[in-house]
Amino acid sequence: MRHIAVLTSGGDAPGMNAAIRAVTRVAVDHGLRVSGVRDGYAGLTTGHFQPLGRRDVGGVVHRAGTMLGSARHPAFAEPEVQARAIEQMRAAEIDGLVVIGGNGSQCGAHALSQAGWPTVGVASTIDNDLWGSDRTIGFDSATTVAVEAVDRLRATATSHHRIFVVEVMGRGCGDIAVHAAMAGGAEECLLPETVYDVDTVCARVLDSYQRKGHAIVVIAEGAPPGATGLAERLRAGRAAVGLEHVEVRESILGHVQRGGSPTVADRVLASRLGDGAVHALIRGEHGVLVGLRDGHVTTTPLAQVAGRTKGPDPTLVRLMNVLER
Ligand code: F6P
Repeated sequence: MRHIAVLTSGGDAPGMNAAIRAVTRVAVDHGLRVSGVRDGYAGLTTGHFQPLGRRDVGGVVHRAGTMLGSARHPAFAEPEVQARAIEQMRAAEIDGLVVIGGNGSQCGAHALSQAGWPTVGVASTIDNDLWGSDRTIGFDSATTVAVEAVDRLRATATSHHRIFVVEVMGRGCGDIAVHAAMAGGAEECLLPETVYDVDTVCARVLDSYQRKGHAIVVIAEGAPPGATGLAERLRAGRAAVGLEHVEVRESILGHVQRGGSPTVADRVLASRLGDGAVHALIRGEHGVLVGLRDGHVTTTPLAQVAGRTKGPDPTLVRLMNVLER
C-alpha cells in the first residue's frame, strides 16, 4: 500500500472534514501518498483526483460539510461504472480507497471490494442507522442542532401557549428524533420504528396541553403521518376538547441539521475512525467498515453492513415513553 484515495459520499455530515484530515495525516505519517476524490463516486468514475498533504487538510476540522464535495450517484450501482472507477484508480497508481459515508456509500464500497479493489468504509451519516457502528460521524452534531431548535421553539410554545410539531431528519431511522425529544424535553415523540394510533397520539398531546399550557411533539421524517399531517389531525381534534383557540404550528428542520459545526464528539470520532481506516488498509484488511462499538474502533465486514440498517436503542425508546408527557 503506497498510495490511497479518500472520498466522501451521500449526504454530507459534520465531521467528514475531520475524517479526511485524519486519513490524510495518518497516511502521510506512514509514508503513503494520498489523493482526495472530488464529489464522491461521481469523481471516482471520471478520475477527478487531487493530491492531499498535511497542510491541504489544515483549517477544516471545525467545518461542517466536506472539503472534497459529495454526491448521490445512483449510477454507481452499475458494474460497468464500478469497473470504470477501478480503471481510473489504476491509471492514477492508487492502491486502496477509503469511503466516508452512510448506507448507499457503503453499498458502493462493498461492490468495489467484491470486484477485488482494496476498499475500507468509514461510518458517517447524521442518521446513525448504519449497521456495524454504535455511532456514526455527524449524528451528535445533527442532534445538537435539533435540540437547540427544540429549546428555541419551546420559548414560543410556552410564551404563546401553542402546540409545536417539530420534524427532524433521519430517513427511515428515529434515532435523531428520540435523542432530540429526550434532550429537548418534548411531550411526545413519534418514530418510524414504533407502532401507534394517530388519534390516540393526538388525544395524549391535547391532554398534555391542557395540563401544561404548551406542548412539543418531535416527529422523525419517516414517521407517519408526517409533521404536516399530524398538525392537521391535532387542529381537527382541538374542538372536541374545548381547545379550538389553540394554535398548532409545524416546523420542519430539514438540512439545517446537517450544517452545524461538528461537536467535539464528532471531531474525535471522525479522527479515530479515519485513523482506523488507514491502519486497516496498511495491514491488508479490506472490505470492512470502520466503526465504533462499545467505545472501541472496530471493523465489520461490508458484506454484513451493505443494505442493512439499525434503529434506535430500544431501552432509550422505552425511557422516552416514561419521560414524555
Ligand atoms: O442521510 C442523511 C439525510 O440527511 C437524511 O436524514 C435525509 O432523509 C436525506 O439525507 C436527505 O437527502 P438529500 O439531502 O439528498 O435530500
